[in-house]
Amino acid sequence: MAALAQTDDAPEQELSIEAALARIERIVGPTGWTDSPEAMRPHLEDWRGHYKGRARMVVKPASTQDVSAIVSACAAACIPIVPQGGNTSLCGASTPEEDGTAIVLSLGRMNQVRDLDTDNHTITVEAGCLLQDIQTKALEADRYFPLSLASEGSCMIGGNLSTNAGGVNTLRYGNARELALGIEAVLPDGRILNGLTGLRKDNTGYDLMDLLIGAEGTLGIITAAVLKLFPRPTDQRSAFCAVPSLAAAVSLLSHARAESGDAVEAFEFMPRTLLDLVLAHIPDTADPLTARHDFYVLMDLVSTSNRSGDLGTTMEAILATAFEDGLVLDAAIAQSEAQRQAFWRLRENTSEGQRREGPSIKHDVSVPVSAIAGFYDRAFQEVQKIDPEVRLVGYGHVGDGNLHYNLQAPRGVDAKTFFAQSAAFNHAVHDVVAEMGGSISAEHGIGRLKRAELAHYKDPVALQTMRAIKDALDPKGLMNPGKVI
Ligand code: FAD
Ligand code: MLT
Ligand code: ZN
Repeated sequence: MAALAQTDDAPEQELSIEAALARIERIVGPTGWTDSPEAMRPHLEDWRGHYKGRARMVVKPASTQDVSAIVSACAAACIPIVPQGGNTSLCGASTPEEDGTAIVLSLGRMNQVRDLDTDNHTITVEAGCLLQDIQTKALEADRYFPLSLASEGSCMIGGNLSTNAGGVNTLRYGNARELALGIEAVLPDGRILNGLTGLRKDNTGYDLMDLLIGAEGTLGIITAAVLKLFPRPTDQRSAFCAVPSLAAAVSLLSHARAESGDAVEAFEFMPRTLLDLVLAHIPDTADPLTARHDFYVLMDLVSTSNRSGDLGTTMEAILATAFEDGLVLDAAIAQSEAQRQAFWRLRENTSEGQRREGPSIKHDVSVPVSAIAGFYDRAFQEVQKIDPEVRLVGYGHVGDGNLHYNLQAPRGVDAKTFFAQSAAFNHAVHDVVAEMGGSISAEHGIGRLKRAELAHYKDPVALQTMRAIKDALDPKGLMNPGKVI
């Protein structure tokens, strides 16, 4: 394998690159690494196909000790490391840079459930566990792990924690951060930080777990985590509702929370433009309502008790008053689990529908819930000044104030022409976000996509503090370089 030259200002090496790579090969054995272009390809390109990187090798350790030994070797030879889970990042966070100096460290082989404690309501999992497998394990033990994203069949818990993933149940259970009690991690010098406690109370100094969560692999590698579990739902009901506006959707949410005893688990907004894309591109999908409407909400109620009243009746009562108050124009309540899944299939395929439709620019933003309807319209005015033909596909987690304010290229406009306007669109949308006290990244993270935006919009003192933390933990700048800051 050819060694790539170091730059003049690179930190001093204690080990040659060749010696470090040979050591890594010995640590993981012949089946634990590859440098074959074919085998590496899925690890070098992002889900959206926007970034194509290069790497010296993809290494797949089987244990925390292996990760520690690999990171130590890389630190000694100044080899950058890109930690990778399911590689489903929507902002290029898990793709190596084009210079080819890094290795990709894929956690996929570390997929053991180490412990499940039903009384403590916790599950201890390795970083490479698929999110969906953790959900299943919890259900098998009559417990519930509520983190839920459309990518749950491919993303891994280490990636979920490293991005502080949100998803459709944040409204009730919080982001990935709120669902973690402890983590084990390998720091950039190779030391193992053992914070695998299942404690709900622990005030012994700085919260290092919270530092690593959401760090997108720039401060170390999460190798395992203790996660919170909840009582298994006894009933879940979904309604697909046509609403007159986003403002009405926000009022419907308040109404539903109050009337259900705060049993709303998910509350997802989507415009007709998006539903049309999903119906056009995703097989086995159908509009649940007979007439066309401009805006929709998919709402889930959940119950964890057999003693509370019938959830279906509660849903009907909520929708009946909402209909009288003009908050809902039409609605379908799922009458079976299959129908509920059919409603959710529409929501879970929104990203795929957009991908198949053609080029789109993503804005994963948040504002206070009360400001979301105003934001939707204000930002669209700004966007239309740049291109009146652009298609707004703004949807998402309204209950969290989080919109995926995505812009789809006008029909017939090619990717190159459309993406030439990216910076203008980003500034138009993000300026309105900033004015409203919002965030330019609600749940996807910064990665490569939003690095410049972060530098522009983040509070300068916050940025300096982030830089100080990065320099203290990773002085050689080897952990996921080119991402976040
Ligand atoms: P990767 O993409 O592999 O990595 C993401 C980041 O975490 C990178 O910076 C990587 O270096 C770092 N990383 C990965 N593993 C580790 C580790 N063990 N230690 C340290 N750093 C690590 N996101 C949401 O929040 N909400 C959604 O609703 C949502 N929906 C999605 C729908 C689709 C169809 C797709 C494709 C993506 C969606 N995402 C969503 C984005 C993505 O799935 C999440 O960000 C997810 O948490 C990433 O997990 P992953 O295992 O794929 O991580
Ligand atoms: C989702 O909620 O479906 C994704 O986070 C949105 C996206 O792909 O932009
Ligand atoms: Zn989302």
